[in-house]
This record gives sequence, C-alpha cells and structure tokens, in this order.
Amino acid sequence: MRRVTTVRYESLAVTPVVTRISYLHDYMYQLVVSLASMIEISDLSHIYSGKTKALDKLSFSVERGEVVGLLGPNGAGKSTAVKLITGILHPTSGSIKVAGFEVAENLAEVRKRIGFMPQETSLYQDLTAHEALEYHADLYGVPKDEVSERVANMLDLAGLTHRKNDRIKTYSGGMKRRLALVRTILHDSELLILDEMSLGVDVHSRNLIWNQVRRMREEGLTVLFCTNYMDEAEALADRVIVIDNGKLVAEGTPDELKQEYVGNYLIEVLLEGLDPENDASWLGGQLGMKTEKLSKPLDGGPRTAWIKSQAGHADLPLVIEKLTELGLKVKQAALREPSLGDVFLAITGSKLRD
Ligand SMILES: Nc1ncnc2c1ncn2[C@@H]1O[C@H](COP(=O)(O)OP(=O)(O)O)[C@@H](O)[C@H]1O
Ligand SMILES: [Mg+2]
Repeated sequence: MRRVTTVRYESLAVTPVVTRISYLHDYMYQLVVSLASMIEISDLSHIYSGKTKALDKLSFSVERGEVVGLLGPNGAGKSTAVKLITGILHPTSGSIKVAGFEVAENLAEVRKRIGFMPQETSLYQDLTAHEALEYHADLYGVPKDEVSERVANMLDLAGLTHRKNDRIKTYSGGMKRRLALVRTILHDSELLILDEMSLGVDVHSRNLIWNQVRRMREEGLTVLFCTNYMDEAEALADRVIVIDNGKLVAEGTPDELKQEYVGNYLIEVLLEGLDPENDASWLGGQLGMKTEKLSKPLDGGPRTAWIKSQAGHADLPLVIEKLTELGLKVKQAALREPSLGDVFLAITGSKLRD
C-alpha cells in the first residue's frame, strides 16, 4: 500500500515537474535570445592572407531595434566586419554573437535571422526580379502559400512591379540595389545588414532606399549599415560607430559626437594674408578658440579655417573683429551647425567623401 502510494506520488508530481522544467528551459532559452544584444562583437581581428590586418581588436554592440551606421573611409574594414558577422568570413580571432548565438557555432540560427545586402550586388543577372525573389524565398524556406504575395509586396516596395519580368541585367544600378534591399526582408529576418546601400545609385533610387530603411526601423527591425557617405549616416542612423584602420575611433549618437568633437557651432572663415607657416593651432591660440583645421591651398590662395564655437551668433562678430585685428582679411564668414562630416574631420584630420 505504501509502495503504491509512493509510485502514485512520483507519477503525479515528478512527471509534471520534468515537463515544467522543459517548458521552463524553452522559456529561458527564448528569454536569453530576446534579451541578448542583436550583435555583440568583441576583440575581433581579421588578417587577410596572413598579411593585411583589416580589423584590429574591434568591439561594439548593436541593440534590438537600433539603426546603427558603421562609418569609415575606404579600406577602414567595414565590409570585412559585416562579412564576419554574417559568417561569410571566419575571424582570425575574437568573438561574434548574433541574437545571443556565437556565429562560428550556430551559423544556421544566425543566417535565418539576417538579411544581408552585400557591397557588390550578387544577383543572377539572367533571372527576372520576380524569379530572383522566388528563388530567394525558396532558399530561405518561406512557406509556399506565402511566396507569391510576399514577392509581389517586395516588388512593389522596390518600385519594380512594372519591370518584374525583365532580366536583371537590363536594370540600372539603382534598380539592382533596390532589388537587393527588398531581398533582405523577404524572409523573416530580424537583423538587416546593408553594405553601402546607395553605392552608385541615382538620387531617385537613393531616396527610395532611404525611405525603405526608415520603414524597416518603424517595423522594429534592427539595421546595421556600412557607409562612407556622411549624409547617409546623418539621415538614417540612431547611433554611429566610426572605424578607421580596423579600429574603433568613436561611437555615439550623431548629436553626442557633434557635441563631443565639434561643439554647438562651427564658424567657417575664408582668410587672406596668413603666413604659409601658420597652422590651425597658431590661429586657435591667437583667437583663444579651438581651430579645427586650416586649409592650405597649393596655389597659396585664401585659406579656410574652421573654428569651434559654443555661443554661435554672439561669437561670429567677435571672431571677425579679432581676425581683422591680426591684420587678416576676412573674405567670407559663416556660422553653421556641425555635420557628421565635421566630426569625422575632427576625429581623423581628413575628409571622408561627402
Ligand atoms: N579579399 C581580400 N583580400 C585581401 N585584402 C582584403 C580583402 N578584402 C579587403 N581587403 C583589405 O582589407 C582592408 C579592409 O577592407 P574592407 O573591409 O573592404 O574596407 P571598407 O569596407 O571599409 O572599405 C583593406 O585594406 C582592404 O584592401
Ligand atoms: Mg566596403
């Protein structure tokens, strides 16, 4: 009798506990996945063919729902970084997690979450847009009964419905980029990685692409995009990560970076009468205001100085007065709010393509 009671006790209580533990395991697993940063990379280094060091101990993270711009000049390592995140390349050292999954160990879990638009558009030129999207849907396991509606939606978003039955090789650069962009959201991706989304496209296509990215953000998708266009980062990014020579050089919202590196305003003056030996720090010292840069035209013509200002309108006449007192001729003077281009200039001392 006692034995039977024990068995009944076990069968009633223990089995449900095991079931509950397995539910709890699933729940915890989902919780861990949903709490993890969307991207977390640490100490990531990549060396090509044992010689070119493209990334050097790069660390950063991207949270869910953020739109982050990875900014840097050509050769900075942006494309290398995103190829490592998508698992196309394997890092020399360091760790990469996507939605909590270590990329090297869980490539399938990572791939199905990512929509990737590579820098070099990789589309089968002999297919039509319609065929290319159907092929992609099949590859990513989009349920058969949803394919035709989703493909039609994507063609519409890309503004390509009227050209859907033409071969891709007949498309303009902008049309190809638009197609590559919508392909990233055809399957149930959570993270979009866009490498130079508007490289070589016309203004019309660029606007269309930017608006799609804004729409993706509203839908709660996470976006990491590489660019060396300052205005693209300014227009789209919630946060910017600046890299140069494979290293992180600055990170923050566009406003934070402007405050940190430039200040409230920039005064831009065109000056005549400067000694060729005079540099930005000399001018800054004379003015008692930090001078970011002083151009040095090869023809020895007027030089442009960029001066940091907190007070803005109140500073402008004072600066002109002081410059005149120094015996310089102010040919033009303008006050403006800093752009990300100015931030880049302040950080690296060189201009990015604007
Ligand atoms: N396949 C490759 N083989 C060798 N070197 C490469 C390769 N791809 C890129 N690099 C080099 O790695 C560095 C970073 O390149 P990349 O990641 O393409 O920079 P970005 O996208 O910022 O322009 C550059 O010096 C580049 O020449
Ligand atoms: Mg690149």
